[in-house]
Amino acid sequence: MMLCNEEMREEILSRLHGYRYEHTLGCERAAVCLAQRFGGDVEKAAFAAILHDITKQFSKEEQLNLCEKYDIIPCNVEISEWKMLHGKTAAAIARKEYGAPQDVCDAIACHTTGKARMTLLDKIIYLADYIEDTRDFPGVEIARVLAEDDIDRALLYCFDQTLTDLIERAKLIHSDTIAAYNALAAKGVRWRDAMKLEARNV
Ligand SMILES: [Fe+2]
Ligand SMILES: [Fe+2]
Repeated sequence: MMLCNEEMREEILSRLHGYRYEHTLGCERAAVCLAQRFGGDVEKAAFAAILHDITKQFSKEEQLNLCEKYDIIPCNVEISEWKMLHGKTAAAIARKEYGAPQDVCDAIACHTTGKARMTLLDKIIYLADYIEDTRDFPGVEIARVLAEDDIDRALLYCFDQTLTDLIERAKLIHSDTIAAYNALAAKGVRWRDAMKLEARNV
């Protein structure tokens, strides 16, 4: 049985507007591409991508109401940086309203922060969200080049950039993001030594 038929996909997309709609379609394309490239589940990747930002437009009050409703207990960082909660609340909606399987929900839940033990599907969604076609922030091209052949390197680059950016802006850092960074760095993953970056001149 299909996880998400065309009718369900259209209904989900009808809840998204403007940039978020374009970003979600971009994320779906990127997730499918990454799943094909790295041997992931293409259908699950597409389903998770379509739903990943489904609650992003909600206010702080709405996010906290959803947490209450779905037994999500926000940590101190999530209460302060409440926009982070959209990953976890979107995962709850995916589960309750669209019957998404656990691994799809898990990938949606960790797409904003990352976490220590990320599955291939978690990595695909995190990276797809970062590199999809509509993204044009400084450094995104490096992430795209790294993602051509090593998902862990690309992911480490994303966390490296995200942590640096949070520190520069004096923002709070979620412990799961540090755990995600450490998990890759401890495995010996490095991105700076990727010779391809020099060759491509990015
Ligand atoms: Fe998001
Ligand atoms: Fe997103």
